[in-house]
Amino acid sequence: MGAGSLVRGWPGLGPWYDASRGHGNWVPPRKEALGLEPALQTRGANSLQRRLPQGIIIGVRKGGTRALLEMLALHPQVAAAHAEVHFFNREENYRRGLGWYRQQMPFSGPGQLTMEKTPGYFSSPQAPERVRAMDPAMRLLLIVRDPVERLVSDYTQILHNRRARCKPYPPLERLLLRGDRGLNTRYKAIQRSLYALHLAPWLAAFPPAHIHVVDGGGLIREPLPELRRVEQFLGLTPSLRPDNFYFNQTKGFYCLQAGAHQHCLDESKGRPHPPITEQLLEQLCTYFSAHNEHFFSLVGRTFNWC
Ligand code: A3P
Repeated sequence: MGAGSLVRGWPGLGPWYDASRGHGNWVPPRKEALGLEPALQTRGANSLQRRLPQGIIIGVRKGGTRALLEMLALHPQVAAAHAEVHFFNREENYRRGLGWYRQQMPFSGPGQLTMEKTPGYFSSPQAPERVRAMDPAMRLLLIVRDPVERLVSDYTQILHNRRARCKPYPPLERLLLRGDRGLNTRYKAIQRSLYALHLAPWLAAFPPAHIHVVDGGGLIREPLPELRRVEQFLGLTPSLRPDNFYFNQTKGFYCLQAGAHQHCLDESKGRPHPPITEQLLEQLCTYFSAHNEHFFSLVGRTFNWC
């Protein structure tokens, strides 16, 4: 990658793209490009280094976790790990220890907040205690979305991945229904939409003030108000602005803008969903209703879900 392929996205400590690799490829900023004095870079605590995260987007899978992370990474005080790390939820990674985890983080400067996102943490039974053991002051972000939409999005992703490998995958209805015996509530995509169930262990490990819930639907409709609340939760100076986001008619979603550089999430985000029948939709909504109410009571907030 040549130096010329780096496009500066933000004055100061901001996001950097590797334009030669297309949209969606974040690269750590080059130290000299950050405007830090070379001497500063070698001075321990003041230097650019890989730091353990102080904020983690823990889920939910297909809730808008990538959009949230990339939007936050526009903030000059945020350094975000591009790839999902899967440290707390995968034994083979957890066994590698905190040194390995730190190595997965981007370089950050003093005063920057390091963040990662791994939606698999949310439903991992081990993750809450493990995160707390690492840092009881951790700030956790949970982005949620209508559980039925999330479920269909989850199915669509797996269907797409299977097709890409020329492998068959059953229609959604077949996975959702047990013949005429009602919903197959053991189907993983249904289980992953039971937000209250997965939130409970996080609330046992962290005080509620450490968990901020982001409205994934709100982030799609109008990103800035949701992001303002996140800035506040993370203790960041409000820096994201309306001109950091523009609606892209072709994509059908907001895209990101940093200086002259525009960036939409890749084609795996915002895929069309397969249709589902009214009857099935009603069945799902009825099933999720009590779970949703429980979730609302846990987070002290309601959402306009089906
Ligand atoms: P769909 O592809 O089902 O529409 P995650 O990043 O957690 O996998 O979530 C993916 C979802 O993020 C997408 O689901 C999409 O609806 C949502 N999303 C939110 N904001 C988006 C944006 N600005 N661009 C693309 N997708 C966005």
